[in-house]
Amino acid sequence: MSDEARPYGGGTSDPALKRVRTRHFQRAKEQGIKITGLTSYDFLSASIFDEAGIDFLLVGDSAGNTVFGYDTTIPVTVDELIPLTAAVVRGVSRALVVADMPFGSYENGPDEALHTAIRFMKETRSHAVKLEGGTRSAKQIKRVVRAGIPVMAHIGFTPQSEHGLGGHIIQGRGDDAQRLLEDAHAVEDAGAFAVVLEMVPSAIAAQVTEELSIPTISVGAGPHCDGQLLVWSDWAGMSRGRIPRFVKQYAQIGDTLLEAAKTFRDDVDSGVYPAAEHEYSE
Ligand code: KIV
Repeated sequence: MSDEARPYGGGTSDPALKRVRTRHFQRAKEQGIKITGLTSYDFLSASIFDEAGIDFLLVGDSAGNTVFGYDTTIPVTVDELIPLTAAVVRGVSRALVVADMPFGSYENGPDEALHTAIRFMKETRSHAVKLEGGTRSAKQIKRVVRAGIPVMAHIGFTPQSEHGLGGHIIQGRGDDAQRLLEDAHAVEDAGAFAVVLEMVPSAIAAQVTEELSIPTISVGAGPHCDGQLLVWSDWAGMSRGRIPRFVKQYAQIGDTLLEAAKTFRDDVDSGVYPAAEHEYSE
């Protein structure tokens, strides 16, 4: 499809679209154009992904793992995510930035959810928030949306409930498919502008995508969703250790950095660096 024919997604060279907004998500679904998203936690990666034409950046609570080194996303706090989100917002001119509401910042009810969402919007200038949970979070979504804040919902495997779900387990299999469909409809009815489906069989994700009028965003939910989202450190080969099956690695940044750091160490040891061209004359 030519860039001219795309309502957005033609990259930064697309003169028609200066800023991706939630209504462009809806238009993309209606026109069958796939939405792209990556996580980002800092200014430099955000500006690169924005320049590449990625449609939205999620400042995920996966920062708990990737930035802060916790073993799950559970300990990460609003105060830790706010400076990261503000940095990502400063790095973009086109992409829509979604601030992830961490565990413990909305579960107490709609008032707490609205309070947290307002903090993110005012202190980071993000364009939307995301929170986990289907039916159980519908009241929170409704309150935040009523206040004029766009909400991206997140159902299927929800990492903040890892212990309640019994580990990293595919959601929506067998009889559980009905619960997933109910969650999907609950978040749409509550006013979410899009819904992330994480670790869901492709066939059930296809059914959800068919039944909902809002876009579905896959994180390991197959090719039939309206968009695809990946955690950038997995996607770029920066994460060490086990990578989920659904991730395609588009680079091996971790190995590149490792080799560069080893070469730097050797060059300093042997006096190769700094060379004459790196010195200032009097
Ligand atoms: O925090 C995150 O990165 C996420 C995505 C995996 C959806 O919530």
